[in-house]
Amino acid sequence: MTEWADGRERKIQGITMDEQTKQRRQFLKNHIHTEFDFSRTDQAQGVPVPPAEKPPRTDQRVIELPGPKQWETVAPVDLTRAIRKRRSRRIFKEKPMRVEELAFLLWATQGVVRQGPGYTMRTVPSAGARHALETYVCALHVAELPSGVYRYLPTRHALAEEFLDGELGPKLAEACLGQRFLATAGAVWVWTAVPYRMEWRYGPVSAKAIALDTGHAGQNLYLACEAVDCGTCAIGAYDQKRMDALIRADGEDEFVVYLAPVGKAK
Ligand SMILES: Cc1cc2nc3c(=O)[nH]c(=O)nc-3n(C[C@H](O)[C@H](O)[C@H](O)COP(=O)(O)O)c2cc1C
Repeated sequence: MTEWADGRERKIQGITMDEQTKQRRQFLKNHIHTEFDFSRTDQAQGVPVPPAEKPPRTDQRVIELPGPKQWETVAPVDLTRAIRKRRSRRIFKEKPMRVEELAFLLWATQGVVRQGPGYTMRTVPSAGARHALETYVCALHVAELPSGVYRYLPTRHALAEEFLDGELGPKLAEACLGQRFLATAGAVWVWTAVPYRMEWRYGPVSAKAIALDTGHAGQNLYLACEAVDCGTCAIGAYDQKRMDALIRADGEDEFVVYLAPVGKAK
């Protein structure tokens, strides 16, 4: 359809409604029951389930994170209050974040609460419990954690050290199209998608499910931040190639989908 009901040319903000726009809108629709044959998925074909998280390389340092008993800074916060207080925060104190806070926030965004053969149940929901996200933490200003990129291992509640880099702040700001406040965060969450983890079950219609899952993780981070006097801001504006290169994702089987700087709230 290229015209509105009254005969005017169909335009969105001056751009003619073209095939590409229509295709992009298609992404938002549900195709599971009309265009999807469950009998042809890898799952139905008996292909082994992919791992719930990327296993760390054998040469990687793995840092165990403090568990719930050590989260003494996490005061019980009334959920209604946390929801009401939630805001996108872009101004952070210079005070470093504590590893306990980082551990709590990682648990709140991807922590595993139960697991069985081929699935994990986490603090966030996921279509088919597939959990196709990986969480990278760019530590910029975290006490006792050298500046660098780490990856959360949900099943172990631990961090795998990817690489150390003292110049991450400006690099992140640049890769996020000059959003300089990212460099002032204590840590920056970088979520990547590993699409095959979802595609194994839902085939080519997985992208929407992954996008929805990412929103759940983002919202848990927003609310959990309120509990530890931290603040965050969702970041959807970034340069895909630069961000993939920055955290060393291959850009095909794993790529960045969302970011969130976290810091002590001002
Ligand atoms: C998908 C998404 C992408 C966003 N991207 C950015 C961004 O790149 N930079 C930024 O400063 N804020 C970004 N935001 C935050 C919004 O600007 C913010 O949520 C909005 O202004 C409403 O403010 P509030 O979150 O305090 O209610 C994003 C939010 C969402 C949900």
